[in-house]
Amino acid sequence: MDRIKIIGGSPLHGRIRIGGAKNAALPLMTATLLTDETLTLSNLPHLQDIATLLHLLQQHGTEVSLQNNGDDGHEGRSVSLRTPRIVSTTAPYDLVRKMRASVLVLGPLLAREGHARVSLPGGCAIGPRPVNLHIEGLEALGARIEIDNGYIVAEAPNGLKGGEVHFPQVSVGATENILMAACLADGTTVIRNAAREPEISDLGACLIAMGARIEGLGSETITVTGVSRLHGAAHAILPDRIETGTYAMAAAITGGDILLTHTDPGLLTATLDAMRSAGCEIAENAQERTIRVRRQNGPLQGTDVMTQVYPGYPTDMQAQFMALMSIAEGASMITESIFENRFMHVPELARMGANITVHGASALVRGVGSLTGAPVMATDLRASVSLVLAGLAAEGETIVNRVYHLDRGYERLEEKLAACGARISRLPD
Ligand code: EPZ
Repeated sequence: MDRIKIIGGSPLHGRIRIGGAKNAALPLMTATLLTDETLTLSNLPHLQDIATLLHLLQQHGTEVSLQNNGDDGHEGRSVSLRTPRIVSTTAPYDLVRKMRASVLVLGPLLAREGHARVSLPGGCAIGPRPVNLHIEGLEALGARIEIDNGYIVAEAPNGLKGGEVHFPQVSVGATENILMAACLADGTTVIRNAAREPEISDLGACLIAMGARIEGLGSETITVTGVSRLHGAAHAILPDRIETGTYAMAAAITGGDILLTHTDPGLLTATLDAMRSAGCEIAENAQERTIRVRRQNGPLQGTDVMTQVYPGYPTDMQAQFMALMSIAEGASMITESIFENRFMHVPELARMGANITVHGASALVRGVGSLTGAPVMATDLRASVSLVLAGLAAEGETIVNRVYHLDRGYERLEEKLAACGARISRLPD
């Protein structure tokens, strides 16, 4: 397993190009299962999770053609996906267990073929993460669903029927699964208490380009009028707001100055507000699609955040903010309200000198003057990147183990940071 070595203490200066959003790309790719025509997605990030999903789609019958059309050979890639025929409606355990987002094939397979057999994803490092809302939503569209030998077995032999889906709790993935399935259902579906994350609106925009009839995207109530078939389309994946926020925090934690390009500041209001409260200087330019982040006037200030569904402060930016707050002046309370177990970075940050006490869903972070490098590891993507941020600010050497977590969600992380002056390198296994 590769490791990342960081010698901390250099303020970062430069510009970083942001890629397409992983969490938009994954549902968008599964939408190919809804049509026999070609779906072309541009601004595709080059990530392990994308490769895992391509593999799964191929075994369902999707033909994949990747084009490297970015100006630097890496970014701005496109993928053309065409699924003339579904050759298998089973998503096997071996693929689903690698990535929970695989469960997003359930709605499209069921809508197109009238049946699907998708492995239950199983446990996860950040919480139990059940899929009951996906199942109940599809049942509201007339599906019969059983759990059999660890698989979700779903049947709708006469097709799905439009219905009322009222989620008791907001779920990004369940909203996406039902949104896709409802496009091919007979009649009108109303999704209440829908997730409002920008990645869902991006998926909806692509589905509309494919011929779907959807209203209310970005609101709590989405209405879908089913159509008999969807056609091909071309769609550019929206920028990754979590990658953007992570590099914004790299500038802040090192006392640097970074221009983030090819992004959309409007997607990060809660994150940028928290950073401003902590003393960062942030200049957004929506027209140029850039954000400039500087922290050169003194230390960061302790700032409280609580994770919430969009447009609240994102859970996927919680670990990074905790790294930032660990060197702030004063204390901050960081509350995680989305996942039960998303504080695995706390003991690792503590090994670098951070002073953090967890009380239930809240972590009290008492800022310390500086962190010191250490060998660390984490068990999920955002926790891992928070350790990279801490390493960039720490005195001395930090080795981050289990880099494969980072490769799931950050494209060429060490190259992007090194281009801004970070002393960071990958140590191959
Ligand atoms: C998406 O996960 C993201 N993943 C996650 O990104 C993100 O942290 C999460 O949304 C919240 O924003 C993708 O988009 C691929 P949820 P998802 O369903 O859809 C509970 C990252 O680092 N729940 O909105 O799985 C669940 O346990 C990641 O990129 C149920 O109880 O999240 C959680 O507590 C990790 N039953 C809450 O809802 C269900 O059927 C929100 O989960 C579904 C969810």
